[in-house]
Amino acid sequence: MWFRVTIMLLTYANLATLPANGARILAVETMSGKSHWNFMSGVLRPLVDSGHTVTAFTPFPDGDRENYTEVDISGDMSRFQDKDLKGVIVNWSDPIRTIDFIASLSKKKCDIMYANNRMIEVMRQNGNSHFDLVIIEPIMSECVSYLATLLDVPMIYAIPLSITSLMERYNTGHFPNPVIDSHVMSAYGMPTTFVQRLANAALIVYGLVSTEFTASRVKCTNPRPYDLVPLYKPSLVFVNGHPVMTAPSPGVASVVNVGGIHLTVAKSLPKDILEFIEQSPIGVIYFSFGSTVKTSSLPEHIKKAFFEALAELPQRILMKYEEELQDKPKNIMTKKWLPQRDILLHPNVKLFISHGGISGLYETIDAGVPILGFPLFGDQPRNIDTLVNNGMAISMDLFSVTKESFLKNVLDLLNNEKYTKNAKSSSEIFKDRSMSPEQSVVYWTEYVIRHKGAPHLKSNAYALTWYQYYLVDVISSILIFVFIVFFVIYKVLKLGYYIFINFKQIKT
Ligand SMILES: *[C@@H]1O[C@H](CO)[C@@H](O)[C@H](O)[C@H]1NC(C)=O
Ligand SMILES: *[C@@H]1O[C@H](CO)[C@@H](O)[C@H](O)[C@H]1NC(C)=O
Repeated sequence: MWFRVTIMLLTYANLATLPANGARILAVETMSGKSHWNFMSGVLRPLVDSGHTVTAFTPFPDGDRENYTEVDISGDMSRFQDKDLKGVIVNWSDPIRTIDFIASLSKKKCDIMYANNRMIEVMRQNGNSHFDLVIIEPIMSECVSYLATLLDVPMIYAIPLSITSLMERYNTGHFPNPVIDSHVMSAYGMPTTFVQRLANAALIVYGLVSTEFTASRVKCTNPRPYDLVPLYKPSLVFVNGHPVMTAPSPGVASVVNVGGIHLTVAKSLPKDILEFIEQSPIGVIYFSFGSTVKTSSLPEHIKKAFFEALAELPQRILMKYEEELQDKPKNIMTKKWLPQRDILLHPNVKLFISHGGISGLYETIDAGVPILGFPLFGDQPRNIDTLVNNGMAISMDLFSVTKESFLKNVLDLLNNEKYTKNAKSSSEIFKDRSMSPEQSVVYWTEYVIRHKGAPHLKSNAYALTWYQYYLVDVISSILIFVFIVFFVIYKVLKLGYYIFINFKQIKT
């Protein structure tokens, strides 16, 4: 009796501590692209705001604050920003090359991360570290999970893409359905024609094979500590997704869409920019190719086409441009950096000319502004195509652009009300949620801590080998069974036939 009461009291005591208050979270940004950190820091901000303590390893330190400490790892990996267009296109525009490159890059990133002195200090504590949870960006290898495995704490993956389909089998246990789920580097938001479905299936299978191949090669030739132990699986995956950006697809409970988590409260615009916008009641076009590529590094003939076309417009243009411009058209203002979110929210801003990076796209969806997209690499073609499907965008190929084709599409986007209307309705869909992305992050992170890694959310698919998961054993046994049945029928018929022949011979 007393025993039972004690158990009950203990259970209640446990319940009383259920809100995972004041958790200590270790976060690691493994990629050195600004958009990756935008997403990760967006995930960490609401956690610190709700009383948790975060230590973040990042190549983009923003500064410490109460309960938030950064470890600057920019010395370990150079930041992927302000690149020349040509190098980026050569290295990153071909999906197959990119997949191979990222597959081997992933291991390198793990080696760099685990060699960091501060990280070694953390890892030395093994299961006695004071951390309760790891939040980390996986790349195309599970090696990032070694940290949580060593510390013996649950882990959440934070993926800045709108879907997880680079490594879904590792991230969720499940292989994407190639006729529904567009690969992240596919040119389409959704595969519809036969050729698109075929290409998408090829890309998804290639991604899996390439990852597996790279992983086993490293494992055989030069095994790292993380190759030698069974690694923890993520309890949860935060994805930068939202139905407005991702076609509906069968989901897993452990994947939580927090698309647009990086969006902060709007701030007021600097005086010069505000005046420039407000003195153009007919409208303003905002032009930016993001932080990775320098707009000034575009080929001369493309820049010429852009500037000549823009100079003919009655609207004003705000442009992110990294160099001083000679003979700049009067209606254009350029700056090295512009407060993009706050600009897009100004009602005079009518159009965004963009490369299709996901952070910027959520900003423009939030603001309800149509887009002219020049997707360059990675997930950008897929992102832009989704917005074309939503009817709020036109997609163009940067390398074949002419002054005339550019001008025609800009005018179409400005003058055809359809685009603005669709942009506004996408914006309404984007904002209509049961929980804000910040609330989702806090709720689900605390959920994982409260339920000690939430093993009940983990798919049994993780426990299956590849031949079990892809039904190879089931289909083979059915085939063998069918074969045996037909074989027996054949033998019986053959026997019957002989008996029949012999019987006939005896009779005659
Ligand atoms: C910082 O963390 C401590 C301990 O969890 C907590 O009591 C305090 O309220 C937090 N501070 C802020 C500003 O959230
Ligand atoms: C492209 O790849 C080469 C070789 O890997 C590298 O040296 C160069 O820095 C890369 N450039 C960009 C822009 O990624």
